[in-house]
Amino acid sequence: MSDSVQILMCPPHHYDVDYVINPWMEGNVHRSSREQAQEQWNKLYQVLKTYATVTLVDPQIGWPDMVFTANAGLVLENTVVLSRFFHTERQGEEPHFQAWFEAQGHTVHTLPKSLPFEGAGDALLDRAGQWLWAGYGFRSELDSHPYLAKWLGVEVLSLRLVDQRFYHLDTCFCPLTDGYLLYYPPAFDTYSNHLIELRVPVEKRIPVDEVDAVNFACNSVNVDRVVIMNQASAGLKRALGDRGFTIVETPLGEFLKAGGAAKCLTLRMTEPRRASPQASTVQSRTIHLEGHLLDSGLVNRALDLIVSGGGSFQVLNFNLGEQRQDPSAAEVKVSAPDAAVMADIMGQLIDLGAMAVAEESVPAQLAAVTQSGVAPDDFYVTTIYPTEVRVGNQWIKVVGQRMDGAIAITPGSDGGSDSDSNGGSDGVPVARCQLLRDLQAGESVVVGSDGIRTLRSAPSLKKNSTEEFGFMGAGVSSERRVELVVEQIAWDLRRIRDRGGKVVVTAGPVVIHTGGSEHLTRLIREGYVHGLLGGNAIAVHDIEQSMMGTSLGVDMQRGTSVHGGHRHHLKAINTIRRCGSIAQAVEQGILTSGVMYECVKNKVPFSLAGSIRDDGPLPDTKMDLIEAQADYARLIEGADLILMLSTMLHSIGVGNMTPAGVKMVCVDINPAVVTKLSDRGSVESIGVVTDVGLFLSLLVKQLSKLTGQYAQV
Ligand code: ARG
Repeated sequence: MSDSVQILMCPPHHYDVDYVINPWMEGNVHRSSREQAQEQWNKLYQVLKTYATVTLVDPQIGWPDMVFTANAGLVLENTVVLSRFFHTERQGEEPHFQAWFEAQGHTVHTLPKSLPFEGAGDALLDRAGQWLWAGYGFRSELDSHPYLAKWLGVEVLSLRLVDQRFYHLDTCFCPLTDGYLLYYPPAFDTYSNHLIELRVPVEKRIPVDEVDAVNFACNSVNVDRVVIMNQASAGLKRALGDRGFTIVETPLGEFLKAGGAAKCLTLRMTEPRRASPQASTVQSRTIHLEGHLLDSGLVNRALDLIVSGGGSFQVLNFNLGEQRQDPSAAEVKVSAPDAAVMADIMGQLIDLGAMAVAEESVPAQLAAVTQSGVAPDDFYVTTIYPTEVRVGNQWIKVVGQRMDGAIAITPGSDGGSDSDSNGGSDGVPVARCQLLRDLQAGESVVVGSDGIRTLRSAPSLKKNSTEEFGFMGAGVSSERRVELVVEQIAWDLRRIRDRGGKVVVTAGPVVIHTGGSEHLTRLIREGYVHGLLGGNAIAVHDIEQSMMGTSLGVDMQRGTSVHGGHRHHLKAINTIRRCGSIAQAVEQGILTSGVMYECVKNKVPFSLAGSIRDDGPLPDTKMDLIEAQADYARLIEGADLILMLSTMLHSIGVGNMTPAGVKMVCVDINPAVVTKLSDRGSVESIGVVTDVGLFLSLLVKQLSKLTGQYAQV
C-alpha cells in the first residue's frame, strides 16, 4: 500500500525567511539557519522514504518558499489545479511548478488571474468520504472552489479560516485514514465547525489543543496508520495511539519560522479519484450599491458584513462621485459557501440598501401561509426602511412599514370596490407589512431575498450640524451641548405644531419623579403633544402626585418620604377605579391636574400598556398586550416626531413599530438606553443623555423664548 503513495518535495537549498506573509514569519526574517533547515529536511525526507516514494522538484534561486510543495497545486490522478498565489512574494513559483507538472504529463488547469488558490495547502481530500475540504479566508478565494469541483469532479466543502496563525487549511486540519480527522476547531468559524461535525462523526474527530496546534501537529503527513509530524504532546500521542495510529516525530523548527511543517513540505501526487458528484455549494451574486457610500460608511459596512457572515467579495467596479454631493455607485460580487449563508448575507445587504443586480427583473418569491399566524420558513423579515418588492413586472411599495414583520402580498382586485379584498384596485397588488400573528392562511408572503429593495435616505449634507445636534453619547454631553440639542428640538416642535403635524410622547414614571410633570403638562396644554404612550406607572404616579403631592410616597416639594406614603399610589389607583376611568375621574372633578388630566382636557389620546409588575391596574391600562400594541401603532401613525422620555420598554416597543423617516428624540440618564434607541442607522435619531426633568424644563423654557420671538415678528 505504502508503495503506491507518491510524494513531491523540494530540497531547501534556497530556503530562507526573506519576507513576511504570515504571522510566523514576523521577527524571523533571515533568522533561520540553512544548515539546520537542510538537516531537518533530510530527516523528514528519510522518514518519508520509508513510507512512500518521494520525487523531487528542482529548487529555484529567489523563491525561498518553494520548499513548501503543498502549495504547488492540487493533484487528483492526472489532473492538476495549479496554484495562484495570493502574495506576489510567491507568484514566481507558479511557472516552475507548472513546467514540472506538465513534464510529468499532467493536465494542468490554471485559474483566472485574480482568483487566488494555494493548492493542497488549502484543499485536502477526505480519507473516507469522497469529498474535498477546501479552505478560504486568508489565501485561497472562495470563488476558486467551484472550479475545483468542475475540474476535479469532486464535491467541495468550503471551510472558513478565522485565525490568521492558521492561514492555510493544512495548518489546522488533517484528514486521516479511515475517516479520522485531526483538527483545531477554533481555527474555523461556527458555520464551518458545524459542517465538519455534520460530515465527520464525533468518534472520528480528534480535536487538538492550542499547544499542539501551534506546534503544527495538524500539519502532518499521514500514510496508512502512520502520522508524521513536527511534535506531539503526550495527550495527542495517546489520543492517536488509542485509535491505532503511530506518531513519528521529526523536528522542523527551522520551517516553523516560515509558517510551515511536515505537510507543507510535501505534495501528495497519488490521490485517487473516487466516484463523487462534482459539486460545490458555493453561490455567487452581484449586488449594486448606490448613494453616499464613502461618507456614510456604507461600503465598509457592506463588505464587513459579507466577511463576518462567512462570505467573500470582489469589488467589480466603483464609481466615486466627483463632488461631495454626488452619489457613488459600486458593484460587488458576493460569494458564500452555500445557499443558506448566501440568503442570510443577502438579507442583511438588502437591509443596508443594496440591490441584487440580476434581480432587477426577477420577481420576489412568494410562499403561501399554511397556518394562520405562522409565516413560511425563510420569510423576509422587514426593517424600518422603506421597502419595495417586485411583483409581476413592477416594483410595489410596501405599506405599513415597520420592523420585524413579514411582507404579505394581496393580489389587486379588477377595479370596482370588492369590499373584502385588501388588494389595490386596477389590478395592482398590495404589499403590506404584517405581524406574524396577523397572517392568514392562504395569504402570500415574500420569502428569500429576490426582488426586494430597501431605500436608505442619503445622509444629510449638513453633516456638521447634524453631528452637533446628533447623538450625545456616553454621558459626556456637556451642558452647553444639551442646550444646543434642546434648541434644535424646540425649533422642530414649534414648526411641527404650526403646520399641524404630529408629535407623540412616550413617557416613563421617571418624568414624574424628576419633577418633569409641570413641564410635560404645559407642552400638552400648549398643543405640542398629539398622543401619549406609556404604561400603568406613569399614569399612577402622575395621579398620585396630583391628588396627594407625592410620587411613590415621596413629597415632591421637599423630597422626603411622607409617613404612610408608600400606600399613596394604591390609593390613587383605587380612586380612579371607583370613578371607572381616568376620563371619568376628570369629569367628576376628582382628578384636577397633572399629565393625564391635561390629556383628557385637551383631547390628547393616550394609551397605557400593562405589564406583569403593574399594581391595580388603572381601568385604562390595557393588560391585553396584543391590544395595547395595536393601540400604540394606531397612535403613532403619521407621527412626525416621537419624544421618548425615560422609558426603555415602551420606547423600544414604539421604535419597532415606527418606520424610518420619523424623527426620534430619546432622552435618558442612562447612556446605554440612549444608544440602544437612537442607533437606528438613520440620521433622524437624536439621543440626549441627561436628567429628563431637567431636559423638559429646558425645553419648555426654550419654547417660550421661541414663542416670544415669534410674537415680536
Ligand atoms: N511561508 C509560506 C507561506 O506563507 C509557508 C507555506 C506553508 N505551506 C502550507 N501548506 N501551509 O506561504
